[in-house]
Amino acid sequence: MDTKREREVIDKAPKQLFIGGEWRDASGGRTLGIEDPSSGETLCKVADGTPEDATAALDAAVEVQGSWGQVAPRERGEILRRAFEILVDRSDELALLMTLEMGKTIAESKAEVTYAAEFFRWFSEEAVRIDGRFATSPNGQGRLLTMKQPVGPCLLITPWNFPLAMGTRKIGPAVAAGCTMVMKPAQQTPLSMLELARVLAEAGLPDGVFNVIMSSSSSSVMGPLIADERARKLSFTGSTEVGRKLMEQAAPNLLRVSMELGGNAPFLVFDDADIESAVQGAMVAKMRNIGESCVAANRFHVHESVADEFTARLGDAMGALKVGRGTDEGVDIGPLIDDVQRQKVAELVDDATGKGAKAVVGGSAVEGAGYFFEPTVLGSVPASADLMTTEIFGPVAPVAAFSDEGEAVRLANNSEFGLVAYVYTRNIDRALRVTEALDVGMVGLNQGMVSNPAAPFGGVKQSGFGREGGYEGIEEYLDTKYVAIAT
Ligand code: SIN
Repeated sequence: MDTKREREVIDKAPKQLFIGGEWRDASGGRTLGIEDPSSGETLCKVADGTPEDATAALDAAVEVQGSWGQVAPRERGEILRRAFEILVDRSDELALLMTLEMGKTIAESKAEVTYAAEFFRWFSEEAVRIDGRFATSPNGQGRLLTMKQPVGPCLLITPWNFPLAMGTRKIGPAVAAGCTMVMKPAQQTPLSMLELARVLAEAGLPDGVFNVIMSSSSSSVMGPLIADERARKLSFTGSTEVGRKLMEQAAPNLLRVSMELGGNAPFLVFDDADIESAVQGAMVAKMRNIGESCVAANRFHVHESVADEFTARLGDAMGALKVGRGTDEGVDIGPLIDDVQRQKVAELVDDATGKGAKAVVGGSAVEGAGYFFEPTVLGSVPASADLMTTEIFGPVAPVAAFSDEGEAVRLANNSEFGLVAYVYTRNIDRALRVTEALDVGMVGLNQGMVSNPAAPFGGVKQSGFGREGGYEGIEEYLDTKYVAIAT
């Protein structure tokens, strides 16, 4: 890859806080280093915001909430549509920036830019479909009018694994609904979000509607905002552990909350499945985003009659992947985000092999600079292995056998999480029985990917609540008001 081009893209990216339509340094003047996960080297520094900066961002959002909420839905939709087009036009440059700060391959980053842009296109079309109801009271005396109105200033917190798309699926519906926002991207990957702020401003989003604050201490900047009664909504994507803490902080202020949290997706392969198609689906469900996704298949439960064949074929496919810097030609799998994540993955693999699992392929960290880990398939994994109950967030596929449908469903549901499950079967009766019995918010039936801006993404149990995308996504940013009319 052209290092001059990389430098240009990094130099061009905004590095300051974006508050009230202005780019500014942190009030304390401090900065925060952004690391290239493929080398561990510092790419650049960005402003390290303070609680005062965060309050200034909320002030800006509050100041324009009234006027922004009055902007015609069509105009809000047109802003999103223009932002969609700019994102598509700049996809090459945005993908390079994303790869540099997050690590995934350029092809994956481009796919994310498209995914991210599609949320804007979807919600540009939803902005004009916000409606209400009119009814006659059952006793005939009076009329009932319901209307939808913007919730108000929103606090948005996004993770590092999808630096753009996890933002656009909150920003899209918030803009469409007429809400203002304070966004805090993950401290590891703020550059894509800062570029997005530039794109939104260029698309005509009024100053103050979208504000971005970065910080090395998320709780110190977001804590005061969550407690501020002017904020009306909190939307978070990240770990269940942090989600619980945010819920506690949001409780005194009774903030409306959406939580897209951790997962532990089971991937079920029945004896009547098309095994080749199941392996292809497994590669997507497991290896998209280097396995660093809350919808990544975390554990493979395969019928005992096809478990050996499935494991061997998955091992071949995983073993053929080329690991390397995401910008390099021919690379399939980039580095993990940091050393902490890599250590965690290594410990989970060691724990499983220590308890009897067999490494069919991979199993170790890659030596040298950067946070690379070998694509790994583990066979005969016992239920006691920690990775069967812990979200792996890395390129490791544990396979275990089951003997009948009842056991498969029991194993799949034996988790505190309930985000997504994948099911491979060619039997339509079984497909319906199993998908209905699974305690999850989403199911991939004979496919390894559920993510789609036109569909409601979200989980049950400890995977959180609220839906992002689909018709449901905008409801998270709207309040219902009812008017009782005398006749
Ligand atoms: C996530 O990992 O949090 C979301 C992944 C997706 O939208 O596909």
